[in-house]
Amino acid sequence: MQNNFDIQSRVKEQYINSSNLSARLNLHSFNTNKLDWHVWFFEKMDIPENSKILELGCGNGVLWQINKQAVKENWDITLSDFSDGMLQDSKQNINIEKIKYEIIDIQDIPYEDGSFDIIIARHMLYHVPNIDIALSEVKRVLKPNGKFYVSTNGKEHMQELIELLKKYDKHIDFDPSKFANIFGVENGKEMLKQYFNNVSAEDFVGQIVVHMAEPVVSYVTSIISARECLSSEQELESFYKFIEKEIDKKGTFSITTKAGMFIATKF
Ligand SMILES: C[S@@+](CC[C@H](N)C(=O)[O-])C[C@H]1O[C@@H](n2cnc3c(N)ncnc32)[C@H](O)[C@@H]1O
Repeated sequence: MQNNFDIQSRVKEQYINSSNLSARLNLHSFNTNKLDWHVWFFEKMDIPENSKILELGCGNGVLWQINKQAVKENWDITLSDFSDGMLQDSKQNINIEKIKYEIIDIQDIPYEDGSFDIIIARHMLYHVPNIDIALSEVKRVLKPNGKFYVSTNGKEHMQELIELLKKYDKHIDFDPSKFANIFGVENGKEMLKQYFNNVSAEDFVGQIVVHMAEPVVSYVTSIISARECLSSEQELESFYKFIEKEIDKKGTFSITTKAGMFIATKF
């Protein structure tokens, strides 16, 4: 059984920089839902003038890169992640001078109580060893009436790919639904309600349709635990051929995507 230290060091290894995350975002570019997830998420946020904003686990900064034109001059923005490599990639990708970057673990946020109007945590809470500590830290550093914007995946997310990988080798450790069980679209609202008085939820569903093996193989091998069963050239080649053959059966392979966001207010 893995302890918290093992889990945390595993997550750090996975996110040492943004290359693994970028390979995964590439597969999502084949989504037939052409409404961009990052644009959708940004538009759902209500960020008043002169807000102090903190993003936790910001990854490669794609939210701000894609929505750069909508960033207001009078916002005070801090992007953070516990991976320095991610922050370096974020800085390079976004290239907005006034944004500050800090190495922060969500379980120990180094700011005074009531410091921020807006806090964002996208697709990261399921990696955190102690979600209760993380949520109480977020609540502590939010101002009264401050908003917490959170995103995660649902249990159905990528089920077809999970089944396909099981068919290839049941030892491949790839199961995004285990993250949804930790903090997902289905159980996230109840968890947030323990700390915030007003929580609403919105779903974002889509369908990835691919007609070639490469983006699928890159996605799977970007996940360190899955890569362990595909480490030799031979293993990788046979996996590639398997995916190619499966896609050739119908000409395309479809994967359901299910994500969602929660909007929580601190009273
Ligand atoms: C799946 S990525 C999501 C990145 C980005 N938020 C997005 O949605 O594109 C998870 C991110 O959370 C970061 N992370 C994981 N555990 C963390 C923690 N305890 N505190 C802060 N960041 C963490 C990782 O380094 C990684 O950048």
